[in-house]
Amino acid sequence: MQQGKVSPVSWSSQTVFILAAIGSAVGLGNIWKFPYITGENGGGAFVLVYLAAIVLIGLPILLAELILGRSAKANPVQGMGYLAAQFKASRWWWLLGLNGVLAGALILSFYTVIAGWAVAYFVSSAQGAFINISSSEVGAHFDKLLLNPWELLLWHTIFSLVTIFIVARGIRSGIEKAISWMMPGLFLILLVLLGYATTTGAFGQSFHFLFNPDFAKLSWQGVLVAIGHAFFTLSIGMSAMMVYGSYLDEKASLVKAAIWIAIADTVIAIMAALVIFSIVFANSLEPAVGPGLLFQTLPVAFGQMWGGWLFGTLFFALVIIAALSSAISLIEPALSWLEQRWQIRRAPAAWALGGLIWLIGIASVLSFNHWKSFSLLGDRNIFDTLDFITTNIMLPLGGLMMSLFVAWVMDKETRRSQLNLNSTFERALVFDLKWIAPVAIALVFAVNLLSAPT
Ligand code: PHE
Ligand code: NA
Repeated sequence: MQQGKVSPVSWSSQTVFILAAIGSAVGLGNIWKFPYITGENGGGAFVLVYLAAIVLIGLPILLAELILGRSAKANPVQGMGYLAAQFKASRWWWLLGLNGVLAGALILSFYTVIAGWAVAYFVSSAQGAFINISSSEVGAHFDKLLLNPWELLLWHTIFSLVTIFIVARGIRSGIEKAISWMMPGLFLILLVLLGYATTTGAFGQSFHFLFNPDFAKLSWQGVLVAIGHAFFTLSIGMSAMMVYGSYLDEKASLVKAAIWIAIADTVIAIMAALVIFSIVFANSLEPAVGPGLLFQTLPVAFGQMWGGWLFGTLFFALVIIAALSSAISLIEPALSWLEQRWQIRRAPAAWALGGLIWLIGIASVLSFNHWKSFSLLGDRNIFDTLDFITTNIMLPLGGLMMSLFVAWVMDKETRRSQLNLNSTFERALVFDLKWIAPVAIALVFAVNLLSAPT
């Protein structure tokens, strides 16, 4: 266990680590994606399958990833190399770390573009642009935003600059500081909005939609969507959690941390969905409109309801905060690698890396206008291609390899000392990582590849 240990930094407490990891997990996935895929897949039954996927696949892999991070005590690329040497496995395991570094950078390149939409909507909402807006007007507002590359570029740039600024300052005075006001702020805004949701008159209907399972409405495709989303929403498979775990000391409990992260992520996704569907149903809007739910449906409701200016503006502030605390974790795997492997100082490394990712992001900006009909993979434009390759291939593949490493390659003693769990739970976890999680991922993986037009 003397290998690795190249991470010179550590979290100042276990609580701060858990908050930062929750910040990573809670993002656009919870507030934008979870509500609309739930709407598309009929509600209750989908939510039930999603919860099962979190417990059976997400939580175990999250734990596996934290184990890898803390036992390697290094950036993902070198860390996997150290672990492979320690357990006499193939030296090619470092590629698993590289997969994470690349996936994080690629996801960040388009994540900042979508987060930029939320910044644009925050500004529009604060200016009163949504007051009494009609559904066709808000549709036009959204289309106009997407068709204007300069405006998209502006918001993408602003969001990228803030992200880089935070991470450049380091773990303690950058990430920790930002997290310590963002997470309470996020939770507070969500509570205010939830309080508001109970006054809309449609809270009960929203609750019923989410928790009353009707399995006739669930397809096999929906089951696969639920499993895939469990990865994205918990930030697993791309070594963000691994690098966060590498900054954690040996005393902290990984099991406790993983459980808190999974619970917080799930509770916040459900709270966000309750709020959104209360507003949707109270205004007789359609729950199954897809990705436009957040940007094309909600402003109509905010524009008509009492206090809509305030609650709408707060809502988009919430989306921005959630996205920002995820964005800083997306860049960290690559940044820690530049720092530790290439000995580049953190601030210049952050600006150079962030600049490169920002540049790649411009391709996604253009995917919504000038390059809209330029197809890269199948009929996918550049943005859709990046989203597909990362979310549907790199993350599941990373998660699969991580569960296999912890279950089959790592020795029992190391695993045991990292876990510190009673033997029944430990055996259940290892069984899950050996069989259940890999088979489920392989399934998602296969279906995604088979349904991919090439
Ligand atoms: N978990 C984040 C979300 O739900 C996205 C993310 C994925 C962040 C992977 C970091 C790493 O939006
Ligand atoms: Na999430």
